Amino acid sequence: MRSMLFVPADSDRKMAKAMASGADAVILDLEDSISVDGKARARGVAREFLTSAMATWTPAQPRIYVRINDLATPFWQDDLAMLEGGLPHGILLPKSRSGEDVHQLSVALGHAEEKSGAKQGTTRILALVTEVAISLLQLPSYIGSSSRLVGFTWGAEDLSAEIGASANREPDGSFTSPYRLVRDMMLLTATAAEVPAIDTVYIDFRNKTGLALEASMAARDGFVGKMAIHPDQVPIINEAFTPPPAEVERARAIVAAFEAANGAGVVGFQGQMLDRPHLVLAKRTLARAPA
Ligand code: COA
Ligand code: MG
Repeated sequence: MRSMLFVPADSDRKMAKAMASGADAVILDLEDSISVDGKARARGVAREFLTSAMATWTPAQPRIYVRINDLATPFWQDDLAMLEGGLPHGILLPKSRSGEDVHQLSVALGHAEEKSGAKQGTTRILALVTEVAISLLQLPSYIGSSSRLVGFTWGAEDLSAEIGASANREPDGSFTSPYRLVRDMMLLTATAAEVPAIDTVYIDFRNKTGLALEASMAARDGFVGKMAIHPDQVPIINEAFTPPPAEVERARAIVAAFEAANGAGVVGFQGQMLDRPHLVLAKRTLARAPA
């Protein structure tokens, strides 16, 4: 998933727009963009939207995720109850504290699938693993925590509030040291868990140049996608995470060169030595190439 567009779950208008945005996924948000007093109403609006959107969903449309409230609140169980009958493709778990939270959500989803008559294990989990400090100290616990895990993502806003940092970006727009650390730790955890890493939101949503730069740096570093908060961000993100035709061509040629070498571990390619890591990278590029 290259682009995942957040949309407050209390807005019919935005949810319809999000489905037409070209995003690879939309995330209906019941958490931070919905006030405590607005949660019940948002659940009702989201339920109506989801029931019909999932019943008529086709693979040409964005996948549908729901961000429920975190497991330390009294809200998340009501959020899940709202989903019965129209389970989305996946759940975004915010403020996750450890792999135990992912496991607990996984068990609850199993019950929801049973009640909804859905196939067991089909509802995926994307975990936001950097929003509370304790999670960062327990990152290894996420590895193998659930077969539903479809990836990890990170966020700087909640962690800044918890730490008491007055800013999380330098004047030039780059993240300050603590947030560069957690971004990188999350990327390594995703790698060790063999699931994709999705980059965080870029909240300065009118700044297209800044977004394009941040997205291209994330793609370079090995993230497969980035979350969005505004439809205008979607095409910029999709472009950054789609390998350009020349790169795809080169990857095809590298794979072909290894095939032609009949199992050799090393080949000469355009005057350079290539061995196993180059082949692995080429295959990853082909996996991300447009069909
Ligand atoms: N999804 C779908 N549609 C969106 C959207 C989103 N995330 N953000 C904006 N739009 C729509 C607006 O409704 C508007 O449509 P309209 O003209 O038909 O009413 C159009 O896109 C242009 O919006 P714009 O005026 O540029 O922005 P705004 O001031 O209305 O909204 C935000 C700004 C930040 C409030 C809005 O982008 C938003 O709600 N983002 C998501 C926030 C969120 O979910 N946060 C939680 C995760 S961090
Ligand atoms: Mg938050």
